Amino acid sequence: MKSLSIITLIAILTSCETRESSQKVSESSDKKFRPVYHFTPPSQWMNDPNGMVYYDGEYHLFYQHYPDSNVWGPMHWGHTVSTDLVSWEHLPIALYPDELGYIFSGSAVIDHENTSGLGSSENPPMIAIYTYHEPIGAKNKEIDYQTQGIAYSLDKGRTWTKYQENPVLANPGIRDFRDPKVSWMPEFEKWVMILAVKDHVNIYSSPDLKTWTKESEFGHEIGAHGGVWECPDLFKLTDQNGTEKWVMLVSINPGGPLGGSATQYFVGAFDGTTFTLSDEETRWIDHGTDNYAGVTWSNIPEQDGRRLFLGWMSNWQYANIVPTYEWRSAMTVPRELILRDTERGYEVHSKPVDELVKLEKQTVQPGSPEIREQVYLLTLETEPGKDFECTISNDLNEQVTIAFENGIFSFDRSKSGITDFEEGFGVKHEVDFSDLSIEKVKVYVDKASMEIFINDGQRVMTEIIFPNEPLVKINTSGAIKNAEVILLQ
Ligand code: FRU
Repeated sequence: MKSLSIITLIAILTSCETRESSQKVSESSDKKFRPVYHFTPPSQWMNDPNGMVYYDGEYHLFYQHYPDSNVWGPMHWGHTVSTDLVSWEHLPIALYPDELGYIFSGSAVIDHENTSGLGSSENPPMIAIYTYHEPIGAKNKEIDYQTQGIAYSLDKGRTWTKYQENPVLANPGIRDFRDPKVSWMPEFEKWVMILAVKDHVNIYSSPDLKTWTKESEFGHEIGAHGGVWECPDLFKLTDQNGTEKWVMLVSINPGGPLGGSATQYFVGAFDGTTFTLSDEETRWIDHGTDNYAGVTWSNIPEQDGRRLFLGWMSNWQYANIVPTYEWRSAMTVPRELILRDTERGYEVHSKPVDELVKLEKQTVQPGSPEIREQVYLLTLETEPGKDFECTISNDLNEQVTIAFENGIFSFDRSKSGITDFEEGFGVKHEVDFSDLSIEKVKVYVDKASMEIFINDGQRVMTEIIFPNEPLVKINTSGAIKNAEVILLQ
């Protein structure tokens, strides 16, 4: 109990420190920038998506949340559910910090066989597996302050009980030891946990979610290493020819190709113990700056069969200081991950989920006075291999430019509105897409973000922006054959 009160004290002190920033509440930031169809917390701070699990008709999304301030602080798990991946209902906070620490990122599963004994086979428990981050040890620069704990719910995630014998996985003496993603793997008849450990991942297994055995390590000299590894995931996908492969997602911060945070992936094989690579290419799930810590839903029904992904639409480089005050950060739109065997090797593509069609109201042409809100889907059809440009602006001369020139695809947000909160924010982002034959570009636009899907998700670029007035004037040039705008709500 003693350490609980110290944790509370630290929480209070942290929220005092951040009070200044909370007071800068601009009346209009909610109206101006709060997305319409992307998930945002009811108020205050949010980062990573956590505990994504489907159960009994509901997609659960938990998230890293600090309900007392609009900057990062003592982490809780916020909670929301959706029946269609499009509209989200806010639920009360699911997990609060306790004497073992703040509640960092993790996952949730349905223990159908009641292997944990924490529910019954008639009412299987929903179990959250998360990282405890003990703030006093962290402050004192100890090395074992991150451990893994579990909590269970017997009422569809509405109320939670922490397991009495937490932590279930002790720290072996490594500072960065976090973000467990757990899945039941029927082919190996065990629970498998993938955990981020500083510059690599560890794989563990368990018969009951309470006792864990280390199986292997992966990644010491593979992939990008410009920062710490975080928020991994491991799952199977089938390519267009019916070949099964295992995909590992690993977020990294900093060390992303455009600076700050980003998520890399690896394609390979997994035998229940060890992950081995198909090729050594470092690939990125998204080529923009603002899709981090994304992982996938567990327990999606077999007849659906999709691997559904969602990421945090921000970047640690500036997440704490973006010009929104009532709340901070949104999630990406949910995406379906698809495996393709290509001439460049195995690639994971991201397609916006079909459910988003529900948002579509009316199709209009660029230039139509009907485009008043910055809430629409822009589709560009282009002549493959040829250069094009699309500028989207407002009457204040604020603009973004999406362009393809000499094989370089770019998103320029240097004049996109409020950019001065961070030096590196207002720049042009360039990626080499000379290997692509670009035929279609779809841009989901929602107040403070643009998510660009090339050729139905072959490549993706997610970017946040803060224009002072809606960007609604669309001008195209070069090899754009057709442009169309669908108003969304
Ligand atoms: C990633 C991350 C995780 C950690 C959480 C803390 O964005 O740093 O590694 O669990 O955020 O909020």
